[in-house]
Amino acid sequence: MKTPNRVRIIEVGLRDGLQNEKTVLDVETRIAFAKRLAQAGVKEIELGAFVSPQWVPQMAGSQELVSKVVALKREKVDGKHSEFKTVRLSALVPNTKGLEGAKQSGVERIAIFASASEAFSKKNINCTIKESLVRYREVVEQALAAKMSVRGYLSMCFGCPFEGKVSEAKVVKLAEKLLDMGCDEISIGDTIGVADPVQVKRLGKALKSALGKDAMAMHFHDTRGTALANILASLEIGITSFDSSLGGLGGCPYAPAATGNVATEDVVYMLHRMGVKTGLDLESLIETSRWLQPKMGRELPSKVARAGLPRIIS
Ligand code: HMG
Ligand code: MG
Repeated sequence: MKTPNRVRIIEVGLRDGLQNEKTVLDVETRIAFAKRLAQAGVKEIELGAFVSPQWVPQMAGSQELVSKVVALKREKVDGKHSEFKTVRLSALVPNTKGLEGAKQSGVERIAIFASASEAFSKKNINCTIKESLVRYREVVEQALAAKMSVRGYLSMCFGCPFEGKVSEAKVVKLAEKLLDMGCDEISIGDTIGVADPVQVKRLGKALKSALGKDAMAMHFHDTRGTALANILASLEIGITSFDSSLGGLGGCPYAPAATGNVATEDVVYMLHRMGVKTGLDLESLIETSRWLQPKMGRELPSKVARAGLPRIIS
């Protein structure tokens, strides 16, 4: 198999992970989590969400959290930069109200989130796909004017719990619209973890021709155990950016049965064994996963954190 030299990992555990956990972590614990990620070499962290706390109580406190981490990134203590100095920080934003919060926090990057399924759009953000695109166009315009960069998520690209099959042509069209709007990359979501490697290659190739590989990231939830296989399939067609959550935390509160994202340490373990660089320190990731587990009050799904590193690793 032809493998890339390096892969980019976007850590979404603090947002996609924590948003669907029963245990709500306080802001200080979330900052400690973010620091550990940065110390482990993670270069892109989605810190939280400027969404309604009525809709997602787990993300309450994102304003304080993001502002504090941004301040840590900017300041020097005893002439030394913090671990966040070279980390790209981002937060999820659903509308102009959320954007105001993001601007006040000083975060450099936001992520908007649209859906390829009409039913999920209604359930998740209380509007149709068409309405969401109108709303997001304004958000993106204002964010770019404020010198922020914008990532676009597209959910339910491989299947929807409410509508079943999702048209691949529709996924490609919507991804193009998000890119045209001013997003610099589209994260292609298997929100409920239904995708298989053949489907990933087929849709991935169509998206690559439409968007270009550098404007794509893959976002696999591991609900049915196919996420690592889907990452391999993506690598085979030249896609090299992946979202993941430490420990395999999380899911989406508005998508029934959406369990966690693929675990960061499981992805990094597989890639390092394959000789692909990530820039992340696997032992630190495992340590952080084990640090986090008792705080979440449940065993996290990561296989590598549970088993540890085998002796054959030199
Ligand atoms: P709505 O109820 O239609 O909003 O919700 P509204 O505009 O009618 O306002 C109702 C109230 O909410 C008002 O307050 C607003 O001020 C307030 P009131 O006057 O009643 O006191 N409000 C807000 N408060 C805080 N922050 C805001 C905000 N906006 C309005 N930004 C809304 C619409 C979009 C706000 C709501 O549906 C929402 O917050 N949804 C977020 C759902 C969510 O976070 N889902 C999980 C993330 S998506 C995901 O996980 C998928 C992904 O991982 C990719 C994948 O896996 O595929 C990204
Ligand atoms: Mg997700």
